[in-house]
Amino acid sequence: MSDSSKPPFRSRRWFGREGKQGFYYRSWLKGLGLPHDLFDGRPVIGICNTWSELTPCNSSFRELAEHVKRGVYEAGGFPLEFPVMSLGETQVRPTAMLFRNLASMDVEESIRANPIDGVVLLMGCDKTTPSLLMGAASVDLPTIGVSGGPSLSGNWRGRPLGSGTGVIEMSEMVRAGTLSQDEFTEAEACMQRSKGSCMTMGTASTMASMVEALGMSLPENAAIPAVDSRRFRLAHLSGRRIVEMVREDLRMSKVLTRAAFANAIRANAAIGGSTNAVIHLLAIAGRLGVPLSLDDWDELGSRLPCLVNLKPSGEYLMEEFFYAGGLPAVLREVSQHLDLDAMTVNGRTLGENIAEAPCWNREVIRPLQQPLRAEAGIAVLRGNLAPDGAVIKPSAASPHLLRHRGRAVVFESIEDFKARIDDEALDIDETCVMVLKNCGPRGYPGMAEVGNMPLPPKLLRRGVTDIVRISDARMSGTAYGTVVLHASPEAAAGGNLALVREGDFIELDVPGRRLHLDVDDAELARRRAQWSPPPAPVRGWAKLYVDHVQQAHLGADLDFLVGGSGDGVDRDSH
Ligand code: FES
Repeated sequence: MSDSSKPPFRSRRWFGREGKQGFYYRSWLKGLGLPHDLFDGRPVIGICNTWSELTPCNSSFRELAEHVKRGVYEAGGFPLEFPVMSLGETQVRPTAMLFRNLASMDVEESIRANPIDGVVLLMGCDKTTPSLLMGAASVDLPTIGVSGGPSLSGNWRGRPLGSGTGVIEMSEMVRAGTLSQDEFTEAEACMQRSKGSCMTMGTASTMASMVEALGMSLPENAAIPAVDSRRFRLAHLSGRRIVEMVREDLRMSKVLTRAAFANAIRANAAIGGSTNAVIHLLAIAGRLGVPLSLDDWDELGSRLPCLVNLKPSGEYLMEEFFYAGGLPAVLREVSQHLDLDAMTVNGRTLGENIAEAPCWNREVIRPLQQPLRAEAGIAVLRGNLAPDGAVIKPSAASPHLLRHRGRAVVFESIEDFKARIDDEALDIDETCVMVLKNCGPRGYPGMAEVGNMPLPPKLLRRGVTDIVRISDARMSGTAYGTVVLHASPEAAAGGNLALVREGDFIELDVPGRRLHLDVDDAELARRRAQWSPPPAPVRGWAKLYVDHVQQAHLGADLDFLVGGSGDGVDRDSH
C-alpha cells in the first residue's frame, strides 16, 4: 500500500519495525482481531472521539466514528479510534472552560505518542471543538474536523424553543412572575429533542461554523443536524478524505493560515457568532504561531453585516439554517470579504467550495444588501477599565445602550451577585451598570460564562429587558444583551475592574470603542494600595492552571502550551 517514492508514513516507526519491538507494537493490536496486512504501511488514521454520556451533545459520536471508519477502510487506510477528555458544557463544574487546556494536552499527547498518520477530530459541545483543534495543532499532522451537528429544533407548546436562549428567556419570565414553575419544568423535556449540540447559534454552532470557515472540515459541516443521515455521510466522506490528506501530506498548518483565521473572523460576523470564538481562535492560532490578535477581531470583522437570522440574535434555529443552505450559502454571500484562495481540507480552495452554494431561504440567510444587522461581529473596547481590551457583540446588544453612562452596581464575585440580585432593596435601576468581578481566567478560575448577569426581578416586572453589564467573565453563545466581556487584565490579576466601587460612574461607547471608569488616577492608586488578590488554588490542575493561564486577550491558553512540538518521539516505548 505504500508509495516507495515518498518517505514512509509516521506509523512505520511503530508497525514497520522488526524483532521484539515490532512484535510489541503489532501484537496487542492484533488482539482486537486485526489482520496482519493492516500493518503493511497504509495510513493509520486516529479517530479522536469525545463521546461521553456526560457530554450528551456528543452522544452520537460512537455511530459517527463507525461511519468515519467505513470511509477510512474504503480509501485504504487503517482506522483506530481513541477517547480523549470530553467536556460537557452543562454538567462540568465549576466551568468546562477550566479544563479546555487540559483536554487539549490530552489530545496533543495522545496523538503524538501513538502510531497515527492522520487524525479525524469528532467534536461538538462547546469546549470539545477548541480543545481538539488546539491539541492537534500542536502536533500538526494531517487533520480533518467532523462536528457532531446540532440537535433538532426545540419545540414547546407549538413554539420554537432554542437551546440556552429559551432557558434564559423562560427563567427571566419565572423570575418576573409571568411563567409558572410547572410550565418551566415541562419545557425541560421539549428543548433537546434529539442527540446533538445546542441548536441556536451558540458557541457549539459557532465553533462548528469556525471549523468549516477555517477550511478544517468538508463543506456543510457546520449545520447538518446530528441525526440527519447526511451527517453520517459527511463523516463517511471525511474518513475517505483524511486518507488522501495523509498521502498528500496536507497538514493542519497548511490549512490554518492567517488567511483562514481572517475568513473565520469574517464568517463569525456574518453568522452572528459567539464571543467565545474570540478566545478559542486566538488560542488555536497561538498553537500554530499564526499572528492573530484581539484587535484583528475588530479590524477584520466588526463592520461586516450579520446575515443569519438565528437565535440569539434572530428568530430561527440551526435546522432551518441547514435547510436554507447552511454556512456555504453565507460564505458565498460575503465572498467579496473573504480570501477565496485559502486552502481547505478537501484540497480545494474556499472559493471553489462555495462558488455554487445555493440559498433556499432568504428569510433565514439574508442577502448582503438586506442584512439582519448592518454592523455585527465583535467590537473590541479599550479604556482604563480594560487596557488590554474587552469585547462586546453589538448584534446581541440593545442599540439604545451602545452609548451609555451609568452608575456602577458592583458584585465582588458570582456568589455576591447571587446573594443580592433578587433583593428588592438593591439600589439599581435601568440606567445603572452592573459590574461583576473575579470571574476571569484566574479569578473564577476558568473564566465562567456568567457575564450576562440576569436582571433584578424588580426591573423585569417593569418590563426592563436589558441594562449594561461589564465583567471579566465570558458569556454563553446562546445569551444576549448589552454585555461587555473578557475585560483584560481581569480583576484577579489586578486589572482596574478590581477597583470599581459602588456609585462610580462608567462610560460605555461602543461606536467609539471606549470603556472608561470615571475615577481619577490618584484615587485608583489609593484603591490599588488597599487591594489584595483573591485566594488562589493550592494544588492539582486548578493550581497549574492559575499559575500559567494567560489573560483573555491572548486566548487564555497556558503559557507553556503556546506553540507546538511537532509529531516526533525519538524513543521507543519501554
Ligand atoms: Fe453542549 Fe450547548 S451544552 S453544545
